[in-house]
Amino acid sequence: SIPVFLTLQDLREWRNKAFDGKKSVGFVPTMGALHDGHLSLVKRSLQENDVTVVSIFVNPTQFAPHEDLSTYPRTLPQDLESLVSLQASSTSAEPSKTMAVFVPTVDTMYPSSVSQVLHEQKGTFVEVKGFGEVMEGKSRPSFFRGVATVVTKLFNAVQPTNAYFGQKDIQQALLLRRMVTDLLMAYPTAETLHIIPTARSMDPKDGNLALSSRNAYLGQSERLFAPTLYRALNAAQQAWDEGRSKDEAIASATSVVEEAISRANDSGVEMRMDYVEMNDPETFDVVDGNMRKEGEKVVILSGAIWVKNTRLIDNILLGDE
Ligand code: PAJ
Repeated sequence: SIPVFLTLQDLREWRNKAFDGKKSVGFVPTMGALHDGHLSLVKRSLQENDVTVVSIFVNPTQFAPHEDLSTYPRTLPQDLESLVSLQASSTSAEPSKTMAVFVPTVDTMYPSSVSQVLHEQKGTFVEVKGFGEVMEGKSRPSFFRGVATVVTKLFNAVQPTNAYFGQKDIQQALLLRRMVTDLLMAYPTAETLHIIPTARSMDPKDGNLALSSRNAYLGQSERLFAPTLYRALNAAQQAWDEGRSKDEAIASATSVVEEAISRANDSGVEMRMDYVEMNDPETFDVVDGNMRKEGEKVVILSGAIWVKNTRLIDNILLGDE
């Protein structure tokens, strides 16, 4: 079994005992509804650390009032089961590896009143200016402030030597690396904040759909259209690799989405494109429309689509072979 801590004090006591000055602590922050994408991060942490902490906390401050905070999937018993069996299977060779789960309450994470934070914008916030308002931040204006704030708190609670984030949310991971650098954080540092490749559905019917807790919202007919975004990103990647300009690459992605939208509409599934864009991974600046692939320079190709009421995101790193 794995210890589950609800309070900061219990977690800290365990952490300091488990750490005992020599061991490395790996940390995987999550909002639960765990799938194989989350579990691939936990697996890496178990491999690379003596002690692994997984947090499960649906953070209210990263949801806008109209977003899905109240319906976000909450599956704690199954989550704990998945973690117990993962720990059992991946540590049978090294039984000394330990794991704990941190499931704080909202009051633990927001000790001076979450309602002041949410409704009065009063309290302590962490903002990575210029990086949180672009790309995903355009569609979700205070999302990254909520993420940076809660992740800072979680880093302070766990003090991990290594932390693991998914490429699925590439802007989140890169923004947090920048935050760790700018705030001179020690646990973790920019070097020990690791970005793990996106885990995709193994079901051939899913067309390499990126795993996401929000996929649970998709009905059967909606799921058929969910792989559209990754197909569109692949079309853009192909155009880019063939030497076409950024504008041409984005246009080929857009046409894939538009074609799928008209098929979806015909079968009664509402679908909309949010955006597909290319950005510089260091500055998040939008890539110039005339730019073409140059040397080994990496660019982020990312996008978001709506399938009915579900917003799906995905990305590919171009030039990162
Ligand atoms: P959540 O969406 O639960 O994701 C937790 C971690 O799992 C993130 O680092 C995310 O990028 C990673 N992840 C999700 N789907 C993945 C996939 N298919 N492949 C690989 N990794 C994947 O991201 C959050 O929670 C929150 O914003 C959080 C950082 C916990 C702050 O509240």
